[in-house]
Amino acid sequence: MDFRLLHAPPSGLSNVVADALVVVLCGEHAATALPKALAAALDDAVKHGDLQLKAGKSLYLHRPADVKASRVVFTVAKDAGAAAVRSAAAAAFGQVRVLGAKHAAVALAGGAWREASAEAVVAAAADAAYLYRYTKPSAPAAPALARVSLVADKAHVAAVQHGITLGRAIASGVAVARECANRPANHATPSFLASQARQLGRDLGLKVDVLDRRAVEKLGMGAFLAVAQGSHEPLRFIVVRYEGAPKSKPPVVLVGKGITFDTGGISIKPAAEMDEMKFDMGGAASVLGTLRAIAQLQAKVNLVGLIPATENMPGGRAIKPGDVVKSMSGQTIEVLNTDAEGRLILCDALTYAERFRPAAVVDIATLTGACVIALGHHRSGLFSPDDALAGELQKAGEAALDPCWRMPLDDEYDEALKSNFADMANVGGRPGGSITAAMFLKKFTGKYRWAHLDIAGTAWKRGAAKGATGRPVPLLVHFVLQHGA
Ligand code: BES
Ligand code: MN
Ligand code: ZN
Repeated sequence: MDFRLLHAPPSGLSNVVADALVVVLCGEHAATALPKALAAALDDAVKHGDLQLKAGKSLYLHRPADVKASRVVFTVAKDAGAAAVRSAAAAAFGQVRVLGAKHAAVALAGGAWREASAEAVVAAAADAAYLYRYTKPSAPAAPALARVSLVADKAHVAAVQHGITLGRAIASGVAVARECANRPANHATPSFLASQARQLGRDLGLKVDVLDRRAVEKLGMGAFLAVAQGSHEPLRFIVVRYEGAPKSKPPVVLVGKGITFDTGGISIKPAAEMDEMKFDMGGAASVLGTLRAIAQLQAKVNLVGLIPATENMPGGRAIKPGDVVKSMSGQTIEVLNTDAEGRLILCDALTYAERFRPAAVVDIATLTGACVIALGHHRSGLFSPDDALAGELQKAGEAALDPCWRMPLDDEYDEALKSNFADMANVGGRPGGSITAAMFLKKFTGKYRWAHLDIAGTAWKRGAAKGATGRPVPLLVHFVLQHGA
């Protein structure tokens, strides 16, 4: 999809040339801002009850009189804020994609463009255009919509241009993350994630190292190895580096949970909805997507992505409840529940991160069902002992319309992880399950500034719209740009 800026014709929106003109009505009085021909068409529709001027409503008109565009879609936003514009644009693109329009022009009425709203429109268009086909070639042909233009007057050209550039990069990162996570686990294996990383490396000039089991053994990643030993699918530890700033500048390190399928292991999961555990590499996918976006923007930052990737399977060689393993940090772990595997692969990656002397480390993981209970599907869980870092991530999430919410990490929660047989247990019982998981990770992060994002509720959608969301790529891109600035 091609995104462009279109200078508003001095003669007004009625003269925009496009297959479809999308007019976002920002607030109830937006109609008064329209040129005559469009105002007449809108008036008529409202009078006849075809369109209610209420957020979320939209209306398609075919060849309205005295309008150059052959189709017009009116879509109503609550206000001119980026979030409202995004949902209104999403509703409109839902209509446009089935019309066969190749070129849609988007204009705001009753509000002015801001960088964030331009970025939001790009995100909405890219979201609507994405179609999963890899294992479903019979899926309907990709929508015809190939170009989206944002119609801006002189005063807002710069803001819109910036919003398009950022939105386009984020959209390509989100697409990478969605595609990787949507592919079924018999296709999206640890080796596949490694080949995706290598492909990104070739396309964008990233440095990629892939470690196999031997190399991981040499490093002493006993916790990661313990999870992988139950699977026939070979593990991979993927290291991707983007160098956009002088080497002396400490990098941001992103660590993504790459469980390509989580059966639970010997502590096996119930059958219902277990298919969704192919999305358990959503953290890894978001790391690849963020690297793609940052590299495409040629941002002046250093960024490292670390991905421990393996399946979590039961089997004759699988770890058993009660087994004690030794992590790369030297700390021992009693594995009381083999389904708490994410923290076991992450802890070794967090120790490995030390060698980069990072400015900050953020891990991203579909870590706990408890986080879904706590926060639902709207906000990701944010955990950090570092108030400033937590503030930056929270802010990045708001700016990107990819929000998170901070959760506590009091020392008192540590009690739950005590073990009689090792330095710690890998689970702490059901109460505060997402917090005790984060407390476990915290034990491996003493040497740098650290935050953890639990994306169990936000990485994919359930039900009829089942599929990966690409979150939290938008949050991470905003964070990396801002932190590296
Ligand atoms: N990948 C799951 C977390 C998960 C479950 C994400 C459901 C989204 C939906 C993780 O590996 C897991 O199984 N966690 C356990 C932890 C428990 C054993 C302490 C969980 O949440 O039940
Ligand atoms: Mn699990
Ligand atoms: Zn898992």
